[in-house]
Amino acid sequence: MNNHESLKPDIHKVLKKYDSKKDIIPALQDIQENFGFVSEENAESLAKKINSPLVDISGVVTFYNMFRLKPVGKYHIAICRGTACHVQNSEELLKYVEKKLKIKTGEITQDGRFSLEAVNCIGACAKAPAMMIHDKVYGQLTEKKIDAILDSMK
Ligand code: FES
Repeated sequence: MNNHESLKPDIHKVLKKYDSKKDIIPALQDIQENFGFVSEENAESLAKKINSPLVDISGVVTFYNMFRLKPVGKYHIAICRGTACHVQNSEELLKYVEKKLKIKTGEITQDGRFSLEAVNCIGACAKAPAMMIHDKVYGQLTEKKIDAILDSMK
């Protein structure tokens, strides 16, 4: 086992405090926080832990678009496509990032460094166009600014 693997969270520890059907949403949030996304394997572990059919878990995961089903990169870029950002050309910026990283929205770069998604308003309209990388908001974006931000993330 390499260092990276040994640092991986233990799903049994993550799910320890959850034991009933009403825990599905908080448990899924916890899974996503720890693993970056909800894998089928972890959804199955949750189903077992709370003694519910897997279909109940899958239903919740697909209903709420806050849950991700695919792994994210080391840097997960969420470009805002809300109205305020849209009128400030966020679509062009999204296309720019796709081209720069050679991926489509929803994908992850081959080296696992970046993943990209388009999201609704992230609450930074005054700084439109804006994006988030994990918890940090970057505003008043331009192509040049995006270059500087992404190039600094190795
Ligand atoms: S619309 Fe983009 S931050 Fe609100």
